[in-house]
Amino acid sequence: MIRLTQLTKRYGGFTAVNGINLEVPRGELFGFLGPNGAGKTTTLRMIAGILRPTSGTVEIGGIDLAADPIGAKTKLGFIPDRPFIYEKLTGAEFLRFVAGLYDQEGAVVEHRARELLALFDLEEWRDELVESYSHGMRQKLIISSAFVHRPEVIVVDEPMVGLDPKAARILKDLFREYTNRGHTIMMSTHTLEVAETLCDRIAIIQGGVIRASGSMQELRSSAEAGLTGLEQIFLRLTGDDAARALVDVLDA
Ligand SMILES: Nc1ncnc2c1ncn2[C@@H]1O[C@H](COP(=O)(O)OP(=O)(O)OP(=O)(O)O)[C@@H](O)[C@H]1O
Ligand SMILES: [Mg+2]
Repeated sequence: MIRLTQLTKRYGGFTAVNGINLEVPRGELFGFLGPNGAGKTTTLRMIAGILRPTSGTVEIGGIDLAADPIGAKTKLGFIPDRPFIYEKLTGAEFLRFVAGLYDQEGAVVEHRARELLALFDLEEWRDELVESYSHGMRQKLIISSAFVHRPEVIVVDEPMVGLDPKAARILKDLFREYTNRGHTIMMSTHTLEVAETLCDRIAIIQGGVIRASGSMQELRSSAEAGLTGLEQIFLRLTGDDAARALVDVLDA
């Protein structure tokens, strides 16, 4: 459903994403992990069609994003890490607005919006301006906006940040259920426990390169003997002795 081929992004002389090849089949919940600055957001923004790749291709449901941007983006919902919402819209208006961008309107959209707001305990806020929303409430509204047009593929950049435990639980259930019904979700996260327990497959990116990918079982079997948890595997791949090295410097 998502296919990346030799996907590369350079900022001037700096290569943020370096020839990534990745496939996420339909119905999969895919976790995209990596340290700060690894290239996750850059990759997800290229998939969402917000950032133009330096080279390589993005295909969504077999449609080449560069050749047919509208066709590819119609299949896609994107939840950015730093979302923009019009402050002067109400929650209900914002969802209506986003659905409208995808040429959807009417009773079905109103019904979905109502159900999404109810799911996230935002019913009482539906007619309040977004400027009065808390950080977590905005996050829940943004998440709702990615579902309101019922896209085949959802790309999410760190969806859990700022959510309370109940909302995080609802989000995980929603992602799982949505992919169980044949939709596809690719999410970046720093919450390894979420990736380990929720995702069908995982890729670990570092320095713009995929260091490992596969199911938890596959990651375990290709990791060094004795490394079983995702945290151990992640830290071994991406460097787990930085704090010790620093204390060596401090003590020197
Ligand atoms: N507009 C830009 N211009 C120059 N460099 C950029 C730009 N955007 C990102 N970068 C660089 O590209 C690299 C990858 O950044 P990116 O935001 O994709 O990382 P990330 O994996 O999402 O990190 P984090 O976990 O901190 O969100 C970083 O080194 C960053 O400094
Ligand atoms: Mg990021």
